[in-house]
Amino acid sequence: MNNFEFYCPTRIVFGKGSISKLPEFIDKSKKILVTYGGGSIKKNGVYDQVKKALEGYNYLEFGGIEPNPKYETLMQAVDIVKREGIDFLLSVGGGSTLDGTKFIAAASKYEGQKDAYDYFMKDQNPVTEALPLADVITLPATGSEMNNGAVISRISTNEKLAFQWEALYPSFSIIDPEVTYSLPEKQTINGIVDTFVHVMEQFCTYDVNSPLQDDWALAILRTLIKEAPKVLAKPDDYEARANIFWCATCGLNYWISLGVPQDWATHMIGHELTAFYGIDHGQSLAIVEPRLLRNQKVAKSKKLAKLAREVFCINEPVDLKAADIAIDKIEAFFNSIGMKTRLSDYDIDASEAASKIRDRFRERNTVLGEKGVINADTAYDIILAS
Ligand code: NZQ
Ligand code: ZN
Repeated sequence: MNNFEFYCPTRIVFGKGSISKLPEFIDKSKKILVTYGGGSIKKNGVYDQVKKALEGYNYLEFGGIEPNPKYETLMQAVDIVKREGIDFLLSVGGGSTLDGTKFIAAASKYEGQKDAYDYFMKDQNPVTEALPLADVITLPATGSEMNNGAVISRISTNEKLAFQWEALYPSFSIIDPEVTYSLPEKQTINGIVDTFVHVMEQFCTYDVNSPLQDDWALAILRTLIKEAPKVLAKPDDYEARANIFWCATCGLNYWISLGVPQDWATHMIGHELTAFYGIDHGQSLAIVEPRLLRNQKVAKSKKLAKLAREVFCINEPVDLKAADIAIDKIEAFFNSIGMKTRLSDYDIDASEAASKIRDRFRERNTVLGEKGVINADTAYDIILAS
């Protein structure tokens, strides 16, 4: 196992009725900006619950943070924060609202000349200071509620870039599985695939003798496969919703990444598909993952074979053969829950997409994967095969 450090200051408040506990965790002296997305919280009762819990608090609202949150929108919130003297941010919504709020938290404290997107997302200058933030998370997918990362898009340049700094951890996250009953089926599926691929990015590399992390990772995959059909068949199945949500949180709260190599190439290539073609994050991953695994099968064969045997119960003693079966089974699982896995399903021309992404990765000298062997040309092959 490799050396590691772990730190997470986020309090998790999990379960039915948890939104009413908000006052336990925010000081009354704070001036709050409540951030939200396109309005789902006003239809499913979450907004009303938050409003009730915040009675007696001094707060303003900022709505309209879109899926794949946009820099252009978020800077409007930064203006409000600076103008109104906001000192606490409360995100109410999915991963996009929370990621956007993390960016607002950083940009609100930034006074430099360069624009905040270039400064933080492109140049990756550290976020040393940020407004305190917390969240009521409404979509199980990103793990953003227990991690310090965020992915921010910019319309004017078709960019989608990630950043990750300690100052961006939420101080607390309220996870009430009941609020996910209202999710459109497509978003439930996106979240399941996103969680699955987060686990793959951290588990499916090469062996460093980390049986505990491996077993945690595989347990998340087994749970997802078992619970996914239940939430799709019965959207208000509380137990299944709760299990799926906890899988999503644990899929990217970094526990399974401790002391092990990580990949993240599927995500980085997927982000480009979203940046250029606007497809959902989960959809982009379902397209790239099977082809990336096939491309990297030899290097990943030991982990893929373990997955085949311990998740899909495949009795195949030859690692490379078991790896092949695992990749087929993963794609079949995505398809079985209604997720499409081909560029052609979205009318995207594979050769055009492959060229665009290759050119961009060449410009940035991008190398990806746990061994840094996925370069612009490999990404081209992966997209072309998709
Ligand atoms: O905007 P509203 O009206 O709220 O509707 C949203 C949105 O349309 C809706 N929704 C959310 N909760 C709902 C609901 N509808 C009904 N009932 C509910 N309870 O779902 C739609 C999608 O929401 P979004 O927040 O965009 O989805 P998700 O949570 O999947 O977030 C995706 C974003 O997170 C980034 C992705 O790249 C993408 O930009 N990621 C963030 C990560 C992180 N911070 O660590 C890691 C991930 O790999 C990912 O990259
Ligand atoms: Zn993801």
